[in-house]
Amino acid sequence: MNSQHNFYNLVSNEILAVEALMRQQAKNNHFDLRVALDHLIHSGGKRIRPNITLLSGKLLNGDMERVVTLSSAIELLHTATLVHDDLIDGSLLRRGIPTLNAKWSPAATVLTGDFIFAKAAKLASDTDSIPVMRLFSETLGIIVNGEFTQLFASRGIVDRDEYYQRIYAKTASLFETSTKSAAILCDASLEDTAHLTKFGYELGIAFQIVDDILDFTGKQEDIGKPVGGDLRQGLVTLPALLFIKNNPKHPYLLEHLKENCLKFTSQVETLIQDIRNSEAIEGAFQIATQHINEGLLALKKLPESIYRNALEEIAYYVIERKL
Ligand code: IPE
Ligand code: IPE
Ligand code: MG
Ligand code: MG
Repeated sequence: MNSQHNFYNLVSNEILAVEALMRQQAKNNHFDLRVALDHLIHSGGKRIRPNITLLSGKLLNGDMERVVTLSSAIELLHTATLVHDDLIDGSLLRRGIPTLNAKWSPAATVLTGDFIFAKAAKLASDTDSIPVMRLFSETLGIIVNGEFTQLFASRGIVDRDEYYQRIYAKTASLFETSTKSAAILCDASLEDTAHLTKFGYELGIAFQIVDDILDFTGKQEDIGKPVGGDLRQGLVTLPALLFIKNNPKHPYLLEHLKENCLKFTSQVETLIQDIRNSEAIEGAFQIATQHINEGLLALKKLPESIYRNALEEIAYYVIERKL
């Protein structure tokens, strides 16, 4: 997300303030923590969560200083989950550069993640809103429970419900919190809070479905992280689920899932290729689009403004994005 996007220009100054506030959190701490946080912030990221929090705050005519603090808390929480997630997943590349765990010991990586979680919680408390703090810690609990469930889930075919639970926990919950917490902080009416919450939820579900599609169709150079990893690790996502339904007799698919991963890399690569070239990709894309449309319906119930239009643009960006 950059200045080519209209929605970004509306909050570009606030995004800079968010980044400065995030960076400040390591001040007066160990040199390596400062270096690590700088490295993480400098590496970029789309900043989609703070963007929707800031635009929601503007839409609701809220106190932007508090909304900037909230947005920093949310982006730091996201950053900490990535630090731990990459360690858990053994991922060596994110945002096109080496992850912390690619360079540091697991101990230093875990502690850096913990530090960032602590600072995210501190920033959430700086909003002076107990309901926001409560929502914030509940969301972190949901994310961790989701990662834990995924870690110990038996590999193999999941049903659509399990898939939705998983993507809610790991992604949509924080998107939902990004809009809902802005509504709480800006004293929105119960109706407006519900509409913004629904918008965040649908956006988050669509975002993760697109992420799962990109894991099949994307290029590592574009998305900055390894591709094909989900199925290689035996993790079934929506494109694979749709593929299973249409190709129940595929020679490698069931074997791969039953045996907890195929023995021959070439067979897994064939399987990934077959899914990539199948109608399952378009099917998953259509489902993501339905979620975006649901989200837009909720958004339309809020008063018209340039900020509402910008949120609408973000919704389209989520399904058009290539990274
Ligand atoms: C990555 O999130 C983790 C997922 C939930 C898929 P983003 O795709 O928002 O990551 P950055 O912050 O832009 O790198
Ligand atoms: C990351 O999940 C989600 C969280 C950090 C909670 P994934 O492992 O699926 O995402 P990527 O592919 O590493 O971004
Ligand atoms: Mg990961
Ligand atoms: Mg993971």
